[in-house]
Amino acid sequence: MAKRLFITGGTGYLGGALIRLAAGRYEIGASYLSQPPLALQPIAWPPLDVRDPQAVRVALACFRPDLVIHTAFVQYGPDLLAITAHGSGHVATAAADLGARMIHMSSDVIFDGERTGSYTEDDRPDPISAYGAAKAAAEGLVAAAHPAAAIVRTSLIYGFEPIDRQTQFALEIAAGHRTDRLFSDEYRCPIYVDDLAAALLELAERDYAGVLNIAGAERVSRYELGTLIVRALGHDPARIGAGLSADSPTRRPRNCALDSGRARSLLHTRLRGLREVLAERSLP
Ligand SMILES: NC(=O)c1ccc[n+]([C@@H]2O[C@H](COP(=O)([O-])OP(=O)(O)OC[C@H]3O[C@@H](n4cnc5c(N)ncnc54)[C@H](OP(=O)(O)O)[C@@H]3O)[C@@H](O)[C@H]2O)c1
Repeated sequence: MAKRLFITGGTGYLGGALIRLAAGRYEIGASYLSQPPLALQPIAWPPLDVRDPQAVRVALACFRPDLVIHTAFVQYGPDLLAITAHGSGHVATAAADLGARMIHMSSDVIFDGERTGSYTEDDRPDPISAYGAAKAAAEGLVAAAHPAAAIVRTSLIYGFEPIDRQTQFALEIAAGHRTDRLFSDEYRCPIYVDDLAAALLELAERDYAGVLNIAGAERVSRYELGTLIVRALGHDPARIGAGLSADSPTRRPRNCALDSGRARSLLHTRLRGLREVLAERSLP
């Protein structure tokens, strides 16, 4: 009998990729909050607000998952802590009570970005944004509620079907619909959404506990990321201007490069760098 996989944030970008990849391999339950999903696949779609611990407990108890992948979050707003931090704690508590394997999605912006090299799993969070602080708090709450959970730190997630938010933004600049600049001094290790989804499903079948970096193999600036993808999609990136994060009025993490060496030795899934993904995509 197929294992039962519950994905919080099934209507999100990563949640959608996980559902596509897991379809047919797992019995899937996926939650939504504000976007009623299209019932295209045989999936249980409970509405769920992770701010409500009792609702989380009931949703998971009804579905009886073997595995939980927690992607639901918000990046801004008055309920940032309630959703992104405490909501993660509620999901971890409910998963632990049911004896379910849990993967929690964290982020590279839990770091201040002042590092010259890459961050490893042993590096402790030192966030400089409200979002980074909420994700760092979530890591602590998840680890306390569910010590066997895997806490996956990842980077910017991009993809083509559908196109991700960052790429959409770059395409709008390239088309002349907006005039923003992309930072040439802000570095990340962006990961292709299908590589990330595959790595997460592989990790779900392991008993790895604690922090694991899962990001792309190549460190690039936001400017490189935008221009390279726009060109690969067949558009002219000439209108995309480079800006400096150093000139930004708010302090932003500059270098959040993640060292994913441990994940590469643990998992078979290839965590490709940006240029590698784009080159393989253009092959006939
Ligand atoms: N995207 C990136 O570049 C990136 C980078 C690093 C880390 N991450 C991490 O990866 C994970 C997934 O990111 P994503 O970009 O795929 O997310 P996303 O597309 O923004 O989707 C967020 C999901 O969370 C749900 N949600 C929001 N508030 C909720 C609440 N109160 N209760 C329950 N569900 C709620 C949304 O549901 P509705 O849409 O139905 O309202 C949606 O399904 C997040 O944990 C994020 O921190 C993402």
